[in-house]
This record gives sequence, structure tokens and C-alpha cells, in this order.
Amino acid sequence: MARIFNFGAGPAALPLPVLEKAQAELLDYAGSGMSIMEMSHRSKTFDAVIKGAEANIRKLMGVSDEYDILFLQGGASNQFAMIPMNLLGAGKSADFIHTGSWAEKAIKEAKNVGNVNVIWDGKDENYMRMPAVSELKFTPGAAYVHLCSNETIGGVQFKEYPKTEAPLIADMSSDIMSREIDVSQFGMIYAGAQKNIGPSGMALVIIRKDLTATCENKIPNFHKYTTHAKEPSLYNTPNTWAIYILKLVTEWVESVGGLKALQTINEKKAAALYDCLDSIEFYKPCAKKESRSDMNVTWRLPSEELEAQFVKEAKAAGMDGLKGHRSVGGIRASIYNACPEEGINALVSFLRDFAQKNG
Ligand SMILES: Cc1ncc(COP(=O)(O)O)c(C=O)c1O
Repeated sequence: MARIFNFGAGPAALPLPVLEKAQAELLDYAGSGMSIMEMSHRSKTFDAVIKGAEANIRKLMGVSDEYDILFLQGGASNQFAMIPMNLLGAGKSADFIHTGSWAEKAIKEAKNVGNVNVIWDGKDENYMRMPAVSELKFTPGAAYVHLCSNETIGGVQFKEYPKTEAPLIADMSSDIMSREIDVSQFGMIYAGAQKNIGPSGMALVIIRKDLTATCENKIPNFHKYTTHAKEPSLYNTPNTWAIYILKLVTEWVESVGGLKALQTINEKKAAALYDCLDSIEFYKPCAKKESRSDMNVTWRLPSEELEAQFVKEAKAAGMDGLKGHRSVGGIRASIYNACPEEGINALVSFLRDFAQKNG
């Protein structure tokens, strides 16, 4: 078996022990004689899986009973729409912090529904930095404030979140469970699962119950948070496989020491990569130092031809997924929780060799 180092942005590498456990349990889950994928979502066996996943998330992230935890279909993009549909009714407006491609998608969807105040826009700096908390001025009476915690394409990440009077809503698709956070600072956290916590097609939603209580009623039932909170993620047939894998991932996170331990490892991995890039003139990291993401590291080479050659040779050397997003080009290494330190070491050696040969 030849597994490569996968630096893809998502769907992304999963921890090997998770894949091995899923493989071992694939044909006969917990003595049921069937796969978890073939089982009723209302069975006792699956009930233990979904409840276990929720309990593990509560424990790892410190989520109190004031919040509902939901597993919803449609990934994070569906949340871009569901949030304003539920929380941005007539006469309301919401504040958005425009930090790059993903914030922009959230803004676009909200504009389809209601009034949007873009209170900060990183356009002049090509979205290569996050705002300092002191730069942000919020709109009195806004229904909520939305931000993207980590811009997966640009490679910039909030290091500190603003304290807001209105409920703060964060898209944490690409840095959920990568570091310790204070959940009580947020009205809602959501994340597409396919980077740090599982397979694609599912969003983890952590929403404060008092916020759910303010949701609009005149929208389709399937799009109401209240619907999914009432019948905890079982209003319809959920993505049972994704919930099962998410549970395995949370068990793996626990086994490596929880979010504090992962944060230390992630900071070390990112520092090793940025140190290497900073030390070689040939490479030009994209993000401003103070906003550099610990999850998605982006950089340029002197020409697009060299970038293409870099990606091709890296792949031949067992490192895949390094091509930057099609909208910005360049190189991107996505180094989520499941990216092992050996992968970073291999990439650092490759970076040194490539610069020596081509610089
Ligand atoms: C920060 C961020 N938000 C939202 C999304 C969209 O997620 P999905 O494809 O699950 O809808 C992505 C996907 O890469 C992302 O990186």
C-alpha cells in the first residue's frame, strides 16, 4: 500500500487510524451484521453513534447545553443561505467581514435574502490579511456579525475573534477543532466537515438556543434550524456515514490529547513550513505575517511555469494537492489536523532541493 502525503484543501486527508477503523468495521458494524451505511438512522445502534459524536464534540470543544449541535446536509455552502434565511428577516441587517473568497460567498447569499453591511473589506490588500479587532466597527442593532475564521484559498486566519454585542457567527470550515476556542463567544459556529472532521456533504452546526428561538418561521421546514433542533438532526435521513466518520475523528482527536495538544502540533507544523519559506528568497509567502493561517499555507514561485513544475515534481515525490486554488494560482499546502509532521518534513526537504536546483 502506498499512501502519499495529501496536502489537498478538501476533501482532505483523514487520520489513518480513522480510515483503518472504518475499514475494519465496514462490513459488520458492532456485531450488527451490516455496514453502518446500510442501517436505519432510527436504529438503536445508529442512535449511539450520533449521540456519541455529539457528546465528543461537546467535550472536546467545551460546548455547553445552551447550544444545539446539528449535523446538516449541504455542506457549509448551504449554511451561507440558511443563516440569512433564518436570521435576517424583514427590516433586519447583518454585519459581514469580507476577508476573501469564502466570506464573499457568504455575503452574496445573504444579499439574496436581506440587508448586508460589509463593515470591513480586505480588497485593497488583496485579502492577504485579517483585520485587527480594533479596526472593526459594528452596526448598532445588527441581527448578527458574520466572519470566516480561516480563508482556505488565501491562507489567512483570525488569531483573535472580536467581541460583539450581536451574535457572532463564524464559518470555521477550514480550522474547526484545530485549536482551542471559547465557544461561548459565538452565537453560532459552522463548518463543512471535509477538512478537519470528516467527509464532504455535511456541515457541523453549533448554534445557541436563544438564537434558534429567533428564527424566521415562513421558510421551508427543511431550511429551519428549529426543525433540525427539534428532532436532533433526524428530521430527514441524515448523512449517516459522515456522522459515523466524524465520531471516529473525534475519538482520534481525544486520543492525541484533545484540542490543546493539536494546537501545539499545528503551530509547530505551520512554523516549520513558514520558517523554510521565509529562509529561501526563491519563495514568496502570500499572507501577511500576522494573519498567516496554520491550516492553509500559500506561496508563489518566480513564475507560473516554475509553479507547475513544482507541483508536478512534488507529486512524483509523493506529495499531492499542492496546486493553489484555480482562482488565485500559486502553491498551497493544506496542513490540517490529519497532516502528519512527517509530511511537513518531507515538504520542507523538497522545498530546499527544488530551490537549490531551480533558484
Ligand atoms: C472556509 C470555507 N467555507 C465554506 C466552504 C464551502 O464548503 P462546502 O463545499 O462544504 O459547501 C469551504 C470549502 O472549501 C471553505 O473552505
